[in-house]
Amino acid sequence: MRFKHKDIISIRDLSKEELEYLLTLATRMEGMDQRHDLLKGRILATLFYEPSTRTKLSFESAMMRLGGRTMGFSDPKASSAAKGETLSDTMKMVEAYSDIVVIRHPLEGAARLAADSISIPVINAGDGANQHPTQTLLDLYTIMRSKGSLDKLTVAMVGDLKYGRTVHSLATALSHFSVKMIFVSPTQLGMPRDLLAELQEKRIAFQETDSLAPALEAADILYMTRIQKERFPDAVEYEKVRGVYVLTKAMLGKANPKLRIMHPLPRVDEIHPSVDATEHALYFEQAKNGVIMREALLALLLGRLA
Ligand code: NCD
Repeated sequence: MRFKHKDIISIRDLSKEELEYLLTLATRMEGMDQRHDLLKGRILATLFYEPSTRTKLSFESAMMRLGGRTMGFSDPKASSAAKGETLSDTMKMVEAYSDIVVIRHPLEGAARLAADSISIPVINAGDGANQHPTQTLLDLYTIMRSKGSLDKLTVAMVGDLKYGRTVHSLATALSHFSVKMIFVSPTQLGMPRDLLAELQEKRIAFQETDSLAPALEAADILYMTRIQKERFPDAVEYEKVRGVYVLTKAMLGKANPKLRIMHPLPRVDEIHPSVDATEHALYFEQAKNGVIMREALLALLLGRLA
Protein backbone atom coordinates (compact mmCIF):
# COMPACT_ATOMS: atom_id res chain seq x y z
CA MET A 1 0.00 0.00 0.00
CA ARG A 2 1.39 3.37 -1.00
CA PHE A 3 -0.53 6.43 0.03
CA LYS A 4 2.23 8.98 -0.06
CA HIS A 5 1.62 11.49 -2.87
CA LYS A 6 -1.38 9.54 -4.13
CA ASP A 7 -4.34 11.37 -5.67
CA ILE A 8 -7.82 10.47 -4.43
CA ILE A 9 -10.08 11.21 -7.40
CA SER A 10 -12.44 8.24 -7.55
CA ILE A 11 -13.27 5.70 -4.88
CA ARG A 12 -11.94 3.21 -7.46
CA ASP A 13 -8.46 4.60 -6.72
CA LEU A 14 -8.58 2.69 -3.41
CA SER A 15 -8.47 -1.09 -3.07
CA LYS A 16 -10.46 -2.93 -0.41
CA GLU A 17 -7.28 -3.26 1.66
CA GLU A 18 -6.59 0.45 1.38
CA LEU A 19 -10.15 1.32 2.41
CA GLU A 20 -9.87 -0.95 5.44
CA TYR A 21 -6.48 0.49 6.31
CA LEU A 22 -7.83 4.04 6.22
CA LEU A 23 -10.72 3.08 8.50
CA THR A 24 -8.34 1.47 10.99
CA LEU A 25 -6.05 4.47 10.88
CA ALA A 26 -8.92 6.88 11.57
CA THR A 27 -9.86 4.81 14.62
CA ARG A 28 -6.25 4.75 15.77
CA MET A 29 -5.95 8.48 15.20
CA GLU A 30 -8.85 9.23 17.48
CA GLY A 31 -6.85 8.00 20.44
CA MET A 32 -3.56 9.55 19.31
CA ASP A 33 -2.62 12.36 21.72
CA GLN A 34 0.55 13.40 19.92
CA ARG A 35 -0.97 14.32 16.61
CA HIS A 36 -1.20 18.09 16.94
CA ASP A 37 2.12 18.82 15.22
CA LEU A 38 1.91 16.06 12.64
CA LEU A 39 1.37 18.42 9.68
CA LYS A 40 3.15 21.44 11.07
CA GLY A 41 4.47 23.65 8.26
CA ARG A 42 2.26 22.01 5.62
CA ILE A 43 -0.30 23.94 3.59
CA LEU A 44 -3.61 22.67 2.29
CA ALA A 45 -5.23 24.52 -0.63
CA THR A 46 -9.01 24.30 -0.87
CA LEU A 47 -10.37 25.17 -4.31
CA PHE A 48 -14.16 25.18 -4.21
CA TYR A 49 -15.84 25.98 -7.51
CA GLU A 50 -19.16 24.83 -6.02
CA PRO A 51 -20.86 25.50 -2.66
CA SER A 52 -19.82 23.47 0.38
CA THR A 53 -20.18 23.63 4.13
CA ARG A 54 -19.14 20.33 5.70
CA THR A 55 -16.58 19.13 3.19
CA LYS A 56 -14.62 22.37 3.08
CA LEU A 57 -14.81 23.13 6.79
CA SER A 58 -14.01 19.59 7.90
CA PHE A 59 -10.96 19.44 5.63
CA GLU A 60 -9.80 22.77 7.06
CA SER A 61 -10.51 21.65 10.60
CA ALA A 62 -8.63 18.37 10.02
CA MET A 63 -5.61 20.22 8.63
CA MET A 64 -5.55 22.73 11.47
CA ARG A 65 -6.02 20.05 14.14
CA LEU A 66 -2.86 18.40 12.83
CA GLY A 67 -0.95 21.67 13.04
CA GLY A 68 -1.10 22.57 9.33
CA ARG A 69 -2.48 25.66 7.66
CA THR A 70 -5.03 26.22 4.92
CA MET A 71 -5.80 28.69 2.17
CA GLY A 72 -8.21 28.75 -0.74
CA PHE A 73 -11.38 30.11 -2.21
CA SER A 74 -15.02 29.14 -2.10
CA ASP A 75 -16.24 31.61 -4.68
CA PRO A 76 -14.70 30.97 -8.09
CA LYS A 77 -16.02 34.36 -9.22
CA ALA A 78 -13.42 35.88 -6.92
CA SER A 79 -10.61 33.77 -8.47
CA SER A 80 -8.93 34.14 -11.85
CA ALA A 81 -11.30 31.53 -13.27
CA ALA A 82 -13.62 34.52 -13.72
CA LYS A 83 -10.98 36.08 -16.01
CA GLY A 84 -10.83 32.96 -18.14
CA GLU A 85 -7.84 31.15 -16.63
CA THR A 86 -7.77 27.43 -17.41
CA LEU A 87 -7.97 24.93 -14.57
CA SER A 88 -4.57 23.50 -15.41
CA ASP A 89 -2.92 26.93 -15.25
CA THR A 90 -4.55 27.59 -11.89
CA MET A 91 -3.30 24.21 -10.65
CA LYS A 92 0.29 24.96 -11.66
CA MET A 93 0.22 28.03 -9.46
CA VAL A 94 -1.44 26.26 -6.56
CA GLU A 95 1.24 23.56 -6.74
CA ALA A 96 3.85 26.23 -5.99
CA TYR A 97 1.87 27.62 -3.06
CA SER A 98 0.79 24.47 -1.21
CA ASP A 99 1.54 20.83 -0.37
CA ILE A 100 -1.85 19.23 -1.02
CA VAL A 101 -5.03 20.31 -2.79
CA VAL A 102 -8.74 19.64 -2.24
CA ILE A 103 -10.91 20.56 -5.21
CA ARG A 104 -14.68 20.63 -5.82
CA HIS A 105 -15.90 21.41 -9.31
CA PRO A 106 -19.22 21.25 -11.17
CA LEU A 107 -17.73 19.36 -14.14
CA GLU A 108 -17.24 15.60 -14.10
CA GLY A 109 -13.60 14.80 -14.70
CA ALA A 110 -12.34 18.20 -13.49
CA ALA A 111 -10.59 16.71 -10.45
CA ARG A 112 -8.77 14.17 -12.63
CA LEU A 113 -7.64 16.95 -14.97
CA ALA A 114 -6.48 18.97 -11.96
CA ALA A 115 -4.50 16.00 -10.62
CA ASP A 116 -2.92 15.31 -14.00
CA SER A 117 -1.71 18.92 -14.19
CA ILE A 118 0.50 18.77 -11.07
CA SER A 119 2.53 16.37 -8.97
CA ILE A 120 1.39 17.15 -5.41
CA PRO A 121 -1.60 15.11 -4.11
CA VAL A 122 -5.07 16.17 -5.26
CA ILE A 123 -8.24 15.10 -3.47
CA ASN A 124 -11.60 15.21 -5.25
CA ALA A 125 -14.22 16.80 -3.00
CA GLY A 126 -16.92 16.26 -5.63
CA ASP A 127 -16.85 16.56 -9.43
CA GLY A 128 -20.33 17.15 -10.80
CA ALA A 129 -22.56 14.11 -10.52
CA ASN A 130 -19.58 11.76 -10.71
CA GLN A 131 -17.65 10.99 -7.50
CA HIS A 132 -17.17 12.14 -3.90
CA PRO A 133 -14.66 9.65 -2.51
CA THR A 134 -13.89 11.28 0.86
CA GLN A 135 -17.59 11.46 1.68
CA THR A 136 -17.60 7.71 1.14
CA LEU A 137 -14.65 7.23 3.48
CA LEU A 138 -16.49 8.98 6.29
CA ASP A 139 -19.68 7.11 5.40
CA LEU A 140 -17.87 3.76 5.68
CA TYR A 141 -16.28 4.87 8.95
CA THR A 142 -19.72 5.83 10.30
CA ILE A 143 -21.29 2.51 9.27
CA MET A 144 -18.34 0.61 10.73
CA ARG A 145 -18.62 2.40 14.07
CA SER A 146 -22.35 2.01 14.25
CA LYS A 147 -22.65 -1.59 13.01
CA GLY A 148 -19.22 -2.97 13.93
CA SER A 149 -18.66 -4.29 10.39
CA LEU A 150 -19.24 -3.55 6.73
CA ASP A 151 -20.37 -7.10 6.01
CA LYS A 152 -23.79 -8.75 6.19
CA LEU A 153 -25.65 -5.47 5.87
CA THR A 154 -28.58 -4.30 3.81
CA VAL A 155 -28.03 -0.73 2.70
CA ALA A 156 -30.85 1.25 1.10
CA MET A 157 -29.94 4.38 -0.87
CA VAL A 158 -32.82 6.76 -1.36
CA GLY A 159 -33.50 9.83 -3.50
CA ASP A 160 -31.51 11.15 -6.42
CA LEU A 161 -29.35 8.20 -7.42
CA LYS A 162 -28.75 9.60 -10.88
CA TYR A 163 -27.12 12.93 -10.07
CA GLY A 164 -26.00 12.17 -6.48
CA ARG A 165 -22.25 11.68 -6.46
CA THR A 166 -22.16 10.44 -2.84
CA VAL A 167 -24.22 7.35 -3.67
CA HIS A 168 -22.11 6.58 -6.74
CA SER A 169 -18.93 6.43 -4.67
CA LEU A 170 -20.67 4.63 -1.79
CA ALA A 171 -22.21 1.87 -3.94
CA THR A 172 -18.83 1.12 -5.53
CA ALA A 173 -17.06 1.05 -2.17
CA LEU A 174 -19.67 -1.23 -0.60
CA SER A 175 -19.33 -3.64 -3.50
CA HIS A 176 -16.07 -4.84 -1.88
CA PHE A 177 -18.10 -6.18 1.02
CA SER A 178 -20.87 -8.66 1.55
CA VAL A 179 -23.84 -6.30 1.34
CA LYS A 180 -27.27 -6.15 -0.23
CA MET A 181 -28.29 -2.84 -1.74
CA ILE A 182 -31.76 -1.44 -2.27
CA PHE A 183 -31.95 1.54 -4.62
CA VAL A 184 -35.03 3.66 -3.96
CA SER A 185 -35.67 6.42 -6.49
CA PRO A 186 -38.17 7.72 -9.01
CA THR A 187 -37.58 5.82 -12.27
CA GLN A 188 -35.98 8.82 -13.96
CA LEU A 189 -33.45 9.24 -11.10
CA GLY A 190 -32.16 5.66 -10.95
CA MET A 191 -28.54 4.56 -10.48
CA PRO A 192 -26.46 4.92 -13.67
CA ARG A 193 -26.61 1.76 -15.78
CA ASP A 194 -22.83 1.37 -15.95
CA LEU A 195 -22.61 1.35 -12.16
CA LEU A 196 -25.33 -1.31 -11.94
CA ALA A 197 -23.46 -3.38 -14.53
CA GLU A 198 -20.36 -3.13 -12.35
CA LEU A 199 -22.31 -4.42 -9.34
CA GLN A 200 -23.71 -7.27 -11.39
CA GLU A 201 -20.25 -8.27 -12.47
CA LYS A 202 -19.20 -8.43 -8.82
CA ARG A 203 -22.32 -10.48 -8.03
CA ILE A 204 -23.66 -7.91 -5.58
CA ALA A 205 -27.35 -8.41 -4.79
CA PHE A 206 -29.33 -5.26 -5.46
CA GLN A 207 -32.89 -4.25 -6.10
CA GLU A 208 -34.35 -1.13 -7.69
CA THR A 209 -37.69 0.24 -6.51
CA ASP A 210 -39.58 3.51 -6.20
CA SER A 211 -41.18 2.78 -2.84
CA LEU A 212 -39.59 3.70 0.44
CA ALA A 213 -41.78 1.82 2.96
CA PRO A 214 -40.49 -1.75 2.29
CA ALA A 215 -36.89 -0.50 2.45
CA LEU A 216 -37.49 0.82 5.96
CA GLU A 217 -38.31 -2.70 7.13
CA ALA A 218 -35.50 -4.46 5.28
CA ALA A 219 -32.55 -2.11 5.68
CA ASP A 220 -29.86 -1.81 8.34
CA ILE A 221 -28.73 1.51 6.87
CA LEU A 222 -30.99 3.99 5.12
CA TYR A 223 -28.87 6.47 3.16
CA MET A 224 -31.10 9.43 2.28
CA THR A 225 -30.05 11.98 -0.33
CA ARG A 226 -31.19 15.34 -1.60
CA ILE A 227 -32.66 15.73 -5.07
CA GLN A 228 -29.75 17.51 -6.83
CA LYS A 229 -31.71 20.47 -8.13
CA GLU A 230 -28.66 22.22 -9.60
CA ARG A 231 -27.86 19.27 -11.89
CA PHE A 232 -31.24 19.14 -13.62
CA PRO A 233 -31.03 20.41 -17.18
CA ASP A 234 -34.69 21.42 -16.95
CA ALA A 235 -36.51 23.09 -14.01
CA VAL A 236 -39.79 21.45 -15.01
CA GLU A 237 -38.21 18.01 -14.60
CA TYR A 238 -37.06 18.98 -11.10
CA GLU A 239 -40.55 20.12 -10.13
CA LYS A 240 -41.87 16.65 -10.99
CA VAL A 241 -39.67 14.98 -8.37
CA ARG A 242 -39.13 17.59 -5.69
CA GLY A 243 -40.29 16.37 -2.28
CA VAL A 244 -40.78 12.84 -3.62
CA TYR A 245 -39.47 11.18 -0.44
CA VAL A 246 -40.01 12.76 2.95
CA LEU A 247 -39.09 10.59 5.89
CA THR A 248 -41.06 11.37 9.06
CA LYS A 249 -40.93 9.95 12.55
CA ALA A 250 -44.36 8.39 12.05
CA MET A 251 -43.03 6.31 9.14
CA LEU A 252 -40.40 4.76 11.39
CA GLY A 253 -43.00 2.90 13.45
CA LYS A 254 -42.59 -0.24 11.35
CA ALA A 255 -38.88 0.19 10.66
CA ASN A 256 -36.22 -2.32 11.60
CA PRO A 257 -35.41 -1.29 15.22
CA LYS A 258 -31.73 -1.38 14.34
CA LEU A 259 -32.19 0.84 11.29
CA ARG A 260 -29.76 3.76 11.21
CA ILE A 261 -30.40 6.73 8.98
CA MET A 262 -27.57 8.51 7.20
CA HIS A 263 -27.48 11.56 4.92
CA PRO A 264 -24.43 13.34 3.49
CA LEU A 265 -26.28 16.65 4.18
CA PRO A 266 -27.42 19.28 3.41
CA ARG A 267 -31.00 18.05 3.67
CA VAL A 268 -33.79 20.01 2.07
CA ASP A 269 -37.02 18.30 3.07
CA GLU A 270 -36.23 14.59 2.77
CA ILE A 271 -35.78 13.99 6.52
CA HIS A 272 -38.31 15.70 8.76
CA PRO A 273 -36.66 17.25 11.85
CA SER A 274 -38.88 15.02 14.02
CA VAL A 275 -36.53 12.15 13.06
CA ASP A 276 -33.48 13.91 14.54
CA ALA A 277 -34.18 12.96 18.15
CA THR A 278 -34.88 9.29 17.39
CA GLU A 279 -32.24 6.63 17.93
CA HIS A 280 -32.33 5.95 14.20
CA ALA A 281 -30.69 9.26 13.30
CA LEU A 282 -27.00 8.96 12.53
CA TYR A 283 -26.48 11.88 10.15
CA PHE A 284 -25.05 14.45 12.52
CA GLU A 285 -22.66 11.87 13.94
CA GLN A 286 -21.74 11.05 10.33
CA ALA A 287 -20.91 14.69 9.54
CA LYS A 288 -18.73 14.92 12.67
CA ASN A 289 -16.77 11.85 11.59
CA GLY A 290 -15.61 13.83 8.54
CA VAL A 291 -12.88 15.52 10.56
CA ILE A 292 -11.09 12.45 11.94
CA MET A 293 -11.39 10.58 8.64
CA ARG A 294 -9.89 13.53 6.76
CA GLU A 295 -7.13 13.86 9.36
CA ALA A 296 -6.14 10.26 8.65
CA LEU A 297 -6.23 10.84 4.90
CA LEU A 298 -4.18 14.07 4.96
CA ALA A 299 -1.52 12.53 7.21
CA LEU A 300 -1.19 9.51 4.92
CA LEU A 301 -1.06 11.44 1.65
CA LEU A 302 1.52 13.83 3.07
CA GLY A 303 3.63 10.89 4.15
CA ARG A 304 3.51 11.67 7.87
CA LEU A 305 1.87 8.36 8.68
CA ALA A 306 2.34 5.11 6.89
C1 NCD B 1 -22.97 16.29 -0.84
C2 NCD B 1 -22.28 16.72 -2.13
O1 NCD B 1 -21.74 17.82 -2.21
O2 NCD B 1 -22.30 15.90 -3.03
N1 NCD B 1 -22.66 17.12 0.26
C3 NCD B 1 -21.55 16.84 1.04
O3 NCD B 1 -20.44 16.90 0.58
N2 NCD B 1 -21.76 16.45 2.30
C4 NCD B 1 -24.41 16.02 -0.97
C5 NCD B 1 -25.32 17.04 -1.57
O4 NCD B 1 -24.92 18.15 -1.91
O5 NCD B 1 -26.50 16.72 -1.71
